[in-house]
Amino acid sequence: MSEHASSYHNTPKHIAIIMDGNGRWAQKRNKKRTFGHKAGVEKTREIIEACAARGVKSLTLFAFSSENWGRPEDEVSFLMELFVLALKREVKMLNKNNVKLKFIGNISGFNEKLQKSIKDAEKLTKSNFGLELNIAANYGGRWDIVQAVNSAISENRSNSDIKEEITEKLIEKHLSTNYLPALDLMIRTGDEKRISNFLIWQAAYAELYFSDKLWPDFDSTELDCAITDYKARQRRYGMTGEQLETPVVDSDNSGNSNDEAI
Ligand code: IPE
Ligand code: IPE
Ligand code: MG
Repeated sequence: MSEHASSYHNTPKHIAIIMDGNGRWAQKRNKKRTFGHKAGVEKTREIIEACAARGVKSLTLFAFSSENWGRPEDEVSFLMELFVLALKREVKMLNKNNVKLKFIGNISGFNEKLQKSIKDAEKLTKSNFGLELNIAANYGGRWDIVQAVNSAISENRSNSDIKEEITEKLIEKHLSTNYLPALDLMIRTGDEKRISNFLIWQAAYAELYFSDKLWPDFDSTELDCAITDYKARQRRYGMTGEQLETPVVDSDNSGNSNDEAI
């Protein structure tokens, strides 16, 4: 592709979003942080619809991190209630729109009521084949790697015929995202430039996009900016730009192609 081309890629197949900035959005309006979380849920609906309309195959949203338990108790319990309510309210519509809903993270850390809503929502939507919506809840990237390694080891132990070494491929097979395409684009809103223990393994070669918009202010126009930016990037995976731009032609088998002195 020529260096003047404005687009290297198609729409990303898999987008992940760190939906950050709810608390600050509310505080700017002299409201409690919880007001921002409610507004954040509304925004989530809009962005899910926008991703589906743009042909994104998988969308992974960071809803609650393993570190978020450290927040004030009333904020944590508000968030738990909000998740139950939002699931109850949204799941029918998601199902109608052919969305397949999955949760990644340590779900056993949630109360029974929430665990049941999660299982019911997954069950209801499991045969859908539209947008694959993954909610990362009680999720941490380090937790994911540790559980993947443990799960690989225990599979090895229970299968005495095959003893597999721990390899990258094996870890990937046991990560909570093993059913998803590779992560193409990770977006973080809220004007912070860090990954905060989100998909740390999976983001190794994802393109990163940081938006200064607080999550409740992020909208489909902002999403389009992120996608347009992504499309224009050259994903080199350690190669050189020239390698990617020059088609490989096997015209010289002499082995002397590198004739420039070092
Ligand atoms: C993200 O918004 C939502 C969750 C972590 C649940 P924040 O609540 O982190 O909002 P800020 O970053 O404090 O503004
Ligand atoms: C990341 O945001 C977690 C979610 C969006 C769910 P945080 O607000 O928790 O991240 P830090 O604390 O600023 O790194
Ligand atoms: Mg935050």
